[in-house]
Amino acid sequence: MPSLPNSDELIFFVNGRKSVKSKAAGPLFSLTPFLPVHLPGTKYGCGGGGCGACTVMVSRYYPKTKKIHHYPVTACLVPICSLYGAAVTTVEGVGSIKTRIHPVQERLAKCHGTQCGFCSPGMVMSIYTLLRTHPEPTPEQITEALGGNLCRCTGYRPIVESGKTFCVESTVCQVKGSGRCYMEQDERPFVTRQEKMCTKLYDEDEFQPLDPSQEPIFPPELIRMAEDPNKRRLAFQGERTTWLTPVTLDDLLDLKTQFPKAPLVMGNTTVGPSMKFRDEFHPVFISPLWLPELHFVETTDEGVTIGAGYSLAQLSDALRFIVSEQPKEKTRTHRALLRHLRTLAGAQIRNMATLGGHVVSRPNYSDLNPILAAGNATINVISKEGERQIPLDGRFLERSPEANLKSEEIVLSVHIPYSTQWHFVWGLRLAQRHENAFAIVNAGMSVRFEDSTDRIKALQMFYGSVGPTVVSAGQACQRLIGRRWDDTALSDACRWVLDAVYVPPAAEGGLVEYRRTLIVSLLFKFYLKVRRGLNKMDPQKFPDIPENFTSALEDFPIETPQGIQMFQCVDPKQPPQDPVGHPVMHQSAIKHATGEAVFVDDMPPIAQELFLAVVTSTRAHAKIVSIDASKALALPGVVDVITAEDVPGNNNHKGEVLYAQNEVICVGQIVCTVAADTYAHAREAAKKVKIAYEDIEPRIITIEQALEHNSFLFAEKKIEKGNVEQGFKYVDQIIEGEVHVEGQEHFYMETQTILAIPKEEDKEMVLHLGTQYPTHVQDFLRPLSSFYISTTLCSIQHINRVVSCRTGRPIRFVLERGDDMLITAGRHPLLARYKVGFMNNGVIKAADVEYYINGGCTPDESELVIEFVVLKSENAYNIPNFRCRGRPCKTNLPSNTAFRGIRLPPGCSGSGSFTYLLWPAQCNLPPEEVKEINMYKTISKTAYKQTFNPEPLRRCWKECLEKSSFHARKLAAEEFNKKNYWKKRGLAVVPMKFTVGLPMTFYNQAAALVHIYLDGSVLVIHGGCEMGQGLYTKMIQVASRELNIPQSYIHLSETSTVTVPNTFFTAGSMGTDINGKAVQNACQILMARLQPVIRKNPKGSWEDWIAKAFQESISLSTTGYFKGYQTNMDWKKEEGDAFPYYVYGASCSEVEVDCLTGAHKLLRTDIFMDAAFSINPALDIGQIEGAFVQGMGFYTIEELKYSPEGVLYSRGPDDYKIPTVSEIPEEFYVTLVRSQNPIAIYSSKGLGEAGMFLGSSVLFAIYDAVTAARRERGLTKTFTLSSPATPELIRMTCVDQFTDMIPRDDPSTFTPWSIRVS
Ligand SMILES: Cc1cc2nc3c(=O)[nH]c(=O)nc-3n(C[C@H](O)[C@H](O)[C@H](O)COP(=O)(O)OP(=O)(O)OC[C@H]3O[C@@H](n4cnc5c(N)ncnc54)[C@H](O)[C@@H]3O)c2cc1C
Ligand code: FES
Ligand code: FES
Repeated sequence: MPSLPNSDELIFFVNGRKSVKSKAAGPLFSLTPFLPVHLPGTKYGCGGGGCGACTVMVSRYYPKTKKIHHYPVTACLVPICSLYGAAVTTVEGVGSIKTRIHPVQERLAKCHGTQCGFCSPGMVMSIYTLLRTHPEPTPEQITEALGGNLCRCTGYRPIVESGKTFCVESTVCQVKGSGRCYMEQDERPFVTRQEKMCTKLYDEDEFQPLDPSQEPIFPPELIRMAEDPNKRRLAFQGERTTWLTPVTLDDLLDLKTQFPKAPLVMGNTTVGPSMKFRDEFHPVFISPLWLPELHFVETTDEGVTIGAGYSLAQLSDALRFIVSEQPKEKTRTHRALLRHLRTLAGAQIRNMATLGGHVVSRPNYSDLNPILAAGNATINVISKEGERQIPLDGRFLERSPEANLKSEEIVLSVHIPYSTQWHFVWGLRLAQRHENAFAIVNAGMSVRFEDSTDRIKALQMFYGSVGPTVVSAGQACQRLIGRRWDDTALSDACRWVLDAVYVPPAAEGGLVEYRRTLIVSLLFKFYLKVRRGLNKMDPQKFPDIPENFTSALEDFPIETPQGIQMFQCVDPKQPPQDPVGHPVMHQSAIKHATGEAVFVDDMPPIAQELFLAVVTSTRAHAKIVSIDASKALALPGVVDVITAEDVPGNNNHKGEVLYAQNEVICVGQIVCTVAADTYAHAREAAKKVKIAYEDIEPRIITIEQALEHNSFLFAEKKIEKGNVEQGFKYVDQIIEGEVHVEGQEHFYMETQTILAIPKEEDKEMVLHLGTQYPTHVQDFLRPLSSFYISTTLCSIQHINRVVSCRTGRPIRFVLERGDDMLITAGRHPLLARYKVGFMNNGVIKAADVEYYINGGCTPDESELVIEFVVLKSENAYNIPNFRCRGRPCKTNLPSNTAFRGIRLPPGCSGSGSFTYLLWPAQCNLPPEEVKEINMYKTISKTAYKQTFNPEPLRRCWKECLEKSSFHARKLAAEEFNKKNYWKKRGLAVVPMKFTVGLPMTFYNQAAALVHIYLDGSVLVIHGGCEMGQGLYTKMIQVASRELNIPQSYIHLSETSTVTVPNTFFTAGSMGTDINGKAVQNACQILMARLQPVIRKNPKGSWEDWIAKAFQESISLSTTGYFKGYQTNMDWKKEEGDAFPYYVYGASCSEVEVDCLTGAHKLLRTDIFMDAAFSINPALDIGQIEGAFVQGMGFYTIEELKYSPEGVLYSRGPDDYKIPTVSEIPEEFYVTLVRSQNPIAIYSSKGLGEAGMFLGSSVLFAIYDAVTAARRERGLTKTFTLSSPATPELIRMTCVDQFTDMIPRDDPSTFTPWSIRVS
């Protein structure tokens, strides 16, 4: 290799301060670790550009245009060396509590757009960066800017709303199209006559105005650097790598000749992930990103040539301009590209990735290359030898060696020719979600006709995501030349294309039959599109497509969500100081938005701290033959490799194994950990640990396999009511079947993180971690050594503990997203087997249900979970003869655990689905009627004999039907369905009886500690864990009311086992209930003590009373306690008062389904939730919306993929799709329904989880739409739509000629890529 130059100074600015790095040591490939320790606001959620948590703004000066360009990037993928000459703005540079918060931060907080706050800095940066270039954006621009940012808590609606406050033409209060505030309209369908309802969750008048002139100026030094006429090549040397930045094209060509193997790093969105996730290594990088020769647009009569250095965002801008300037027929390719560019990744990636990088890297899922190829684009390449053009065609995309670039060549630009009059070009794609998701199948197609005819002169079809490269259906196209564009040609084309583009049965990525179906379905869409185009050109000559096929032509647009939230107004007689019932902002919201909230990994480095990396099992069930750590230990910085042998106490705590010992029982089980001075060293060393295995039989992965092997974790749980056998004897009809419900990944944005700090002198260890159950952590760790453990909130925790004890050094352990998804527990997959007997009038007389959940390899919370499955299974339905049994299966998967809405969702969708199944089974009633008929109506007893009053359930149900105009919209949907063959609408309304709390009294206990200080300030500490749900905020509201002082007097300290011991988990939606009662109790004790002082001086101030009380030696500190609700469950008798109360609700969702692709769009959701009296409507609505969106994701697009060997494939945002802003309902209405709940604090109800189940209304709406499609196709047989209702499931259930024509494989002849584990 040629010798390399010495390192230059790397100069860039961060938040206005100059940063000079003399040696770009360490990982060159991410800005994130380089951000100074005092700037922890930029979060790290995935490391691969997929979550947006690390969004920062980059600003650059262009000498050519003399303009400054601001754009968002994901810091985790920005190579530090690419920032030479740039100004980086992080969330801290936008605003801070210490100085001034920025309007973007203020509005995100005040609009209630933060919960846990981990995504908030990224959200702020996305909106802020947009405003720097568009100070008055449109709502669409706001939605587009947020498409690359994931949030797992809020459900996005309030985040979008905060952004929309900057739009001029739309206030957040406007209802689609009306242009008027909803509350000003004559008809207000949500306002009941009896109760005054409020809709104002925040006050826009409080917002600071946005003043663009207040933004920091671009550093003049960077302008001087950019303008410097004597710029020269730069070289930055890292530990093992060199980064070279050429200054001229000649210089670049020289470098490329010298280092032909060196990648050109442009956006780094291909190179970066390959290095990080696939361990690619390159000693030299060349980065010509800012060479002016690569940045240009040139238009000629033939078409447009665009510089390879243009980012995809710049490409969009350029194409938009061209499309606006040129006649439509000339820009068909350009418009097709534009459409795909809108959904390709998120805004950050589109601003980083370049056209040249995209074309050259040729990903098999490429959204642009198939269209470019179909549009006959050419690539202009250059080397020292000169320039040449290569066609961007099938051979190039299929990587034929003769069509490739030579190693010393670079792409200068891409030429995209204009289309002509008789030439149609189109792009098609389908992905698991609407944006920021790789295509499952995409395509670029073009057809050229003999002038004024429909006779094919040239035809091209390119498919992506169907094999290792983009594939051309060249031969099939050739055979169609000369044919007319008609149904016979289509039919032949489908057959030939299926031959040409073959997806083998065991193909990587799975979804084989679906992908085959998509290949022809997309072709059919293209066929229709072209026929429509021909008809528009000459209606006399070319007949139009049938009217009811028209809607097949367009993809679902991405709309900006909007809606109304309604809640009870506070009684006007309530004292103004009393915050209870008001939509008070989350107490940490501003800190979240400024990035000043401290998460565990934001805690400053501690002297001597070590970092951990895990080595996990690659086998599902195997004997550990040997562990060889010698190579790992020999690496620099490595301190220790820890295995089961090193655990000082018990390696097995109640069945939960700390380190695998002798054998591994699942893929992902921790076998050992490596401790090193940096995470990079620990990670490198972890890769070097060699473990030899010997497989052990049986390997049990699925529930069905567990049933075959009789493999269970716990005994069966059962409840029974009436006489089931007898009930079945007298029914008109019986249906039997199975429903599969797959698992769910928590996908919390902050991965599991823990900081363990040993304090030798006091034999104490402080653990900072995220947990719902600090006491459990202590309990778990106590056997491990003699240290006293205190946990502080800020489960992996035990590993740190062991390592910290061994090394005596602090340990920081932050799981990478992929490890987190692999190792930690998720929601249980579930199999429901049911038999339901019913009368012809829709009355269900008997039901016998069996549930099996995939518990994984250890007990974890599977027993509790199956109890909940069984107890919740009847949901809102009164079935006189009902039996439900449940059992957790033991398998060789990582252990599963309790998840929000613990087991309600699949449990209830099991019984919920009966009501859907009855209709096609000749009951002749719509599902909502069957539901209504079978719903609890009066004070009743549950199947486990707990008495309850379903009055609020009836009310929510009735209001939901009425206020959502369910029946009218259902008729409208039916009309729509009659007129549209390929798109169908469906509506569903679901009732809910949701259990809160736990069936053991002592599980519901809580404690608090309240101190009043002499200045009158109050410190409240309680045992509940703040997870973003706003628990601390509500506790301040409680203390404020009880002590009758303003909220500003009250402070909360983080939850810690030092201050409040023996806390129970914050779960079961009980956080506010039980901790609120404990805080209330403490405050009431203190107020009782203060009464004599107050009585003596009733006009005195709070401060006076406190001073006096102190003088009178009255204790100003106390604990408060809540014993817990009286709950019990006797499983032997199958009865009990299992829950303190129920939360009722109903939701109605309407979807539109694309029968050809399986995509769906959620048009509207109405939720009516029985909140009793909401202590904080903003927080409660936030919980409902957030849980609904999480539930909706669970029931529709979130899909874990396992290999038959038990390996989890879906380990990051690229493979596991949680909803983004484009999945949420276009119209979203939430109403808190008032009821009484005297048992709970201030007659409130716990609403943290209930919304999760209401997400099933989307599943059932999809079911409704699919039923309509099937009915129209003459398929009346009952079908089961399991969960999640993915695009694959929807498409394959909408059976038609295309699903019929694909080849099917005999399952006994191949091993599929992935399997269902439920
Ligand atoms: C989170 C995420 C989501 C994504 N989603 C999508 C999606 O939905 N659809 C989709 O189609 N794509 C998607 N992509 C892929 C993305 O489009 C490509 O990674 C990107 O276009 C590559 O461009 P780049 O500038 O970052 O290339 P780089 O990573 O910088 O370079 C890639 C390769 O191209 C070579 N190269 C770059 N420029 C030149 C040149 N001018 N001449 C010669 N060689 C060159 C380099 O040597 C290197 O080998 C996604 C990527 C990420 C990270
Ligand atoms: S951490 Fe950078 S995008 Fe997820
Ligand atoms: S607030 Fe968005 S991830 Fe928690």
